[in-house]
Amino acid sequence: MKICIIGASGKLGRYMVQHALARGYEVVGVCREGSVSKLAEFAGRITVIPGKTNDREVIKKAVANCGGVLTVLVPWGKQHYSSGTAQAVLDCADPEARLIFSCGWHITRDGKDVYPPSIKREEKITRAIMRIIPIADIDDQIEACRRIFASNTRWTVVRGSDLEEGESQGLPVWSRHVGDPILQSNMTRRVDFALFMVAALENDELIHEAPAIVGCRAPSALRTPVAREFQRDPNARLFHRASLIEMNKRGENQ
Ligand SMILES: NC(=O)c1ccc[n+]([C@@H]2O[C@H](COP(=O)([O-])OP(=O)(O)OC[C@H]3O[C@@H](n4cnc5c(N)ncnc54)[C@H](OP(=O)(O)O)[C@@H]3O)[C@@H](O)[C@H]2O)c1
Repeated sequence: MKICIIGASGKLGRYMVQHALARGYEVVGVCREGSVSKLAEFAGRITVIPGKTNDREVIKKAVANCGGVLTVLVPWGKQHYSSGTAQAVLDCADPEARLIFSCGWHITRDGKDVYPPSIKREEKITRAIMRIIPIADIDDQIEACRRIFASNTRWTVVRGSDLEEGESQGLPVWSRHVGDPILQSNMTRRVDFALFMVAALENDELIHEAPAIVGCRAPSALRTPVAREFQRDPNARLFHRASLIEMNKRGENQ
């Protein structure tokens, strides 16, 4: 499959390029002109199209003949960068393409997420800072996701927890709503966030879902009933892994 990664030069983007190449996908990457050098390690293995990710002509060219599009949605700037990027992808990608977008837990699809006070405080502080130094626009990222949720394309919006660097621990587990006990640890390795994004390309059960993810080795993920079973019976290791993956697919991972 040929896929496009929009925002390929960022930390998440580069991990996604690595995972996509490892799976044998042909990769087209879009990034801002000044960031092309950040993709030097992939020279000769991917096609890079420099340009702003909200430039429709750039996106049209990049997503041509792609069966999947992975988009890093960032709230940077005050010129509707996020919603412009999302709209360009929704309009220009093949209607049958799998479209996977990244964002954080702060995005809610149905308003049923229950946020811990620490996250509410963080958002309040960020918004206050943005009013003084307007370098980002959280509301525009919210608008971008509203448009995605309303579209009839084959979308998935992956909502990342707080992120940390480190070696891969495996495919994160997910839940439909922030506030579910499995997500309580609020930590995912960035490399695994990227893994979830790339794996979603071939997981049709995630179409029209907005999974909130957490690392599969995070304490809250390991406190699930299946994980507790494993702690009682260490020989159940394979069962545990297989079950987590299976439940993960069905969104029944509590
Ligand atoms: N950081 C977190 O803790 C966290 C937590 C949860 C979810 N997320 C989500 O994860 C995704 C990426 O997060 P990340 O932390 O891993 O960041 P990242 O990979 O470094 O991505 C940043 C992206 O934003 C672009 N960018 C930076 N400044 C910009 C500007 N002024 N105008 C336009 N584009 C700009 C970068 O492009 P260049 O390479 O050209 O600079 C890059 O593509 C986002 O969807 C975010 O909502 C992040």
